[in-house]
Amino acid sequence: MTALPMAIRTTPQDTATPAPATRPADAHQVLERCRALVRPALAEAVGRLHPWVGEMAAYSFGWCEVGGTPAVASGGKGVRQALAVLGAEAAGAPGRSGVAAAVAVELVHTFSLLHDDIMDGDADRRRRPTVWKAYGTGPAVLAGDALFALAIETLAAQPGGAGAVRTLSGALGDLVRGQADDLLFAERPWTGPRRVRPDEYRTMAEHKTGALLGCAAALGAVLGGAAPETVTALDRAGRHLGIAFQIVDDVLGIWGDPRVTGKPVHGDLRERKKTFPVLVALGSPSGGRLAALLESGEEPDAAAALIEEAGGRSTALAEARRHIAAVETALAGVPLAARAAGELRSLLDFLVRRDV
Ligand code: IPE
Ligand code: IPE
Ligand code: MG
Ligand code: MG
Repeated sequence: MTALPMAIRTTPQDTATPAPATRPADAHQVLERCRALVRPALAEAVGRLHPWVGEMAAYSFGWCEVGGTPAVASGGKGVRQALAVLGAEAAGAPGRSGVAAAVAVELVHTFSLLHDDIMDGDADRRRRPTVWKAYGTGPAVLAGDALFALAIETLAAQPGGAGAVRTLSGALGDLVRGQADDLLFAERPWTGPRRVRPDEYRTMAEHKTGALLGCAAALGAVLGGAAPETVTALDRAGRHLGIAFQIVDDVLGIWGDPRVTGKPVHGDLRERKKTFPVLVALGSPSGGRLAALLESGEEPDAAAALIEEAGGRSTALAEARRHIAAVETALAGVPLAARAAGELRSLLDFLVRRDV
């Protein structure tokens, strides 16, 4: 086997220790570099949409206010576009493959958020009213559909685009499966034989979030004609990263500061979501008390305190770190370009320690 890049050759335990002072890349700078690379192509693609639909997309990306006045709002973190750029670079694919993959996954991600906020009834995202709140439910559905179509068009226009469209379609099939389970879990009881088990949660999170992160990491490599083992390793790494990312999102949904996350706090508790910290706490001796509290829908602060006391927060973060270790293992199995692999690795700590 070809020598492995030093930057990603670690043991699982390494991920639980603080970042070494010599770590080469800063996650914020990496995200910014990738955002700057992708932004012109993303703006060009969005510019081809119907103007009203394009405005909703631009609003979601933080480029304008309602009505189209230019704005600089927070937009998203750009995790998926960064994964696409770095995955392509790590696999030695041409720069245009990484950018096209990044545009496609960022469009699909935004499409999924527009629809997710309707499904979850959430009023805030990215520190602003959600698109359905700002423009109406019908228009938000339409804008989501338009972004989805634009993503497919972007990939189909690339050399080797058919394979990339297949990869994206597969990820979208999984995303739909994961969203379906997420919604159905909310109808299941908190305890008893029909309760949601942690392994069911993991499958749901891999589908609703991991599939698109895996696709993001692998898509530029697919477009660039990388070896199948490399594509598979990047996809596996992204899927584990997605599970870790979703668990951290669950933690932030209970204990995050909405002024920082830009999303509502306790929304998941209100919507009876079977998030990972909740499932852990339900399995503890105080599970019965917690179930009663969650069922009443009252006192979310008291429920959050009980979940924390029962170890829900710390166990969830430990589980997220376990999946980050699996990301490292997946990446270590194939030869990758050292700089991109190092930058990819710099995102891992950021994504489990983030507060946004
Ligand atoms: C939110 O994703 C949806 C989840 C899968 C948890 P992000 O937290 O990456 O959203 P933005 O793009 O940064 O707003
Ligand atoms: C989002 O899941 C996953 C998709 C959009 C497919 P969540 O509903 O948990 O994410 P947030 O917390 O609203 O961003
Ligand atoms: Mg949601
Ligand atoms: Mg949701």
